[in-house]
Amino acid sequence: MAPFQLQSPLDMHLHLREGDLLSLVAPLSAHSFAGAVIMPNLVPPVDNAARLDAYRSAIDAAVGDAAFEPYMTLFFRPYTGDELEAMQSRIIGIKLYPAGVTTNSEAGVRALQEAEPTLGLMQELDIPLLVHGESTGFVMDREAEFMPVYEHLAQTFPRLRIVMEHITTRQAVAFLDRYANVFATVTLHHLLLTLDDVAGGPLAPHLFCKPIAKRPDDRDALLAAALSAHPNLMFGSDSAPHPRHSKECAGCAAGVFTAPIALPMLVELFDKHDALHNLQAFVSGNARRIYRLTPAPKAVSFVKEATVVPSQYGTVVPFGAGRTVAWRLLDAGQPPV
Ligand code: NCD
Ligand code: ZN
Repeated sequence: MAPFQLQSPLDMHLHLREGDLLSLVAPLSAHSFAGAVIMPNLVPPVDNAARLDAYRSAIDAAVGDAAFEPYMTLFFRPYTGDELEAMQSRIIGIKLYPAGVTTNSEAGVRALQEAEPTLGLMQELDIPLLVHGESTGFVMDREAEFMPVYEHLAQTFPRLRIVMEHITTRQAVAFLDRYANVFATVTLHHLLLTLDDVAGGPLAPHLFCKPIAKRPDDRDALLAAALSAHPNLMFGSDSAPHPRHSKECAGCAAGVFTAPIALPMLVELFDKHDALHNLQAFVSGNARRIYRLTPAPKAVSFVKEATVVPSQYGTVVPFGAGRTVAWRLLDAGQPPV
């Protein structure tokens, strides 16, 4: 059987961290992806030119020789037009976190009105807005409760490209068809999981993330949109590594680590649903069009050959640890078996 090939796959939502964790995880993404949108929720956040450039250099050093483009983002705060113009060529967008809704978001936005002057400048400069769309309400309702905020933003800034990050609900899927300037990313794990997988049996800390996995009908709506490569939907892993001791403890950190196995698992999932012909658009084509990107050519090949997901990468436990995946990523230059 001929290998299945993807051209320049892109991960449109990725956490690379800093220090030892960055050194561990960056090569794992760079191995199979041509580029990724890098989240700015570090401590302190990436919200100025010096921090942006230092982080970009650290990522480049961690990636080494691999062909991998880090598409940098800034952490949303009120910025001046001069600041935005100075940094525009070095970023793909600005990520807005409501204060306190997820890991390292304490410096996020408390009142949307205070964000609007900057959003107006972003619209004028054509800088995309990436949003962690959750209210502070009941955990299962947080994303659905945020839809009026997306609606307000889409109407107030009709020329601002707005990306609903890591969507988890059927309401968000439906919202994709309502405004031409609204797009979304979806993760691998939200295409596979419901709350039952996280907390229906023994608690599964490695499946705990923000936003939390929702109901079967939400998962089914996300999956249908991904399998059909909805033109406004992009793959974004939200791969968010935390060391094992921060996950297997009281006060488990939110985040699922999927980067090294995301593509083989996506191939497996799309193959299972006879939708492999739509995977290229979902993992690259849609993002190229929405963000107007031209990633470097990078062909990534997969063979239908069972492989077992490693139990750990360094200090981090990956999604699906120990599980058998039906497809295997061929290393560059490795001939198909
Ligand atoms: C992310 C992290 O750990 O940085 N966690 C998560 O559960 N997804 C933050 C985020 O994207 O919300
Ligand atoms: Zn994230």
